[in-house]
Amino acid sequence: MRRFLVAGNWKMNTDRASGSALAGALAENSPSEEAGVEVLVCPPFTGLESVGRAIDGSAVQLGAQDVYFEPGGAFTGEISVEMLTDAGCGYVIIGHSERRNVLGEDDEVANRKVKAALAGGLKVVLCVGELLSQREAGNTEWVLDLQMAGSLADISEDDAKNIVIAYEPVWAIGTGVTATTEQAESAHLHLRNWVSGHYNSEFADQLRILYGGSVKPDNAEALMSQPNVDGALVGGASLKPDLFIPIIDAARSLANG
Ligand code: 13P
Repeated sequence: MRRFLVAGNWKMNTDRASGSALAGALAENSPSEEAGVEVLVCPPFTGLESVGRAIDGSAVQLGAQDVYFEPGGAFTGEISVEMLTDAGCGYVIIGHSERRNVLGEDDEVANRKVKAALAGGLKVVLCVGELLSQREAGNTEWVLDLQMAGSLADISEDDAKNIVIAYEPVWAIGTGVTATTEQAESAHLHLRNWVSGHYNSEFADQLRILYGGSVKPDNAEALMSQPNVDGALVGGASLKPDLFIPIIDAARSLANG
């Protein structure tokens, strides 16, 4: 049985005070280890320490939104795996569509980052997803295959056990347009089949695949009730406790129901 993961990607939002308040509200809602649901928050780098303090002792986990693959040195503006683990992170998001499409990262960069993060003991949320034009051209599965093959190149099954995949169709991110449950399930099943073909079916069965793209309280349960949807990577709605907590609760009720 795969455990749900509900992750908040705060993107370039929150300062230390608002981030701590938000994290504190989530910590109150997730007081201890829970069987069926894992909760993760990924604040901006400047909030890692203060958010880490706010969730200390709760079941909420801390992650970063990106990392660089070099261990240290003259890489102005970048941050290393060791810096993130030192700041208390257990997870890092890699290959988010905004990194790919706004900041020009490709699968090779994502692959180097995934390898560095896993080698340094971080768990990875690896994002993949197609543009609207790619979907309209009927190329969704082809794009997902390329992103999976490129981002996971030369990564062993043993290492890949610490990866979670996030399917985030780019046209659904921040747009209020959510993939239908059928579109999400079909992409997730395709991704799981890819993993089964490139690794094996037992591993594919255990791998968690999150959906991201305009997840809100009113669509979370329907999306996460799909057989191959194992949680959510939430942007906008993760910035407000009264939106994010109902999404966590939807996963809880599915896990316990
Ligand atoms: P929204 O939930 O704001 O659409 O963002 C999704 C996302 O990019 C999460 O990583």
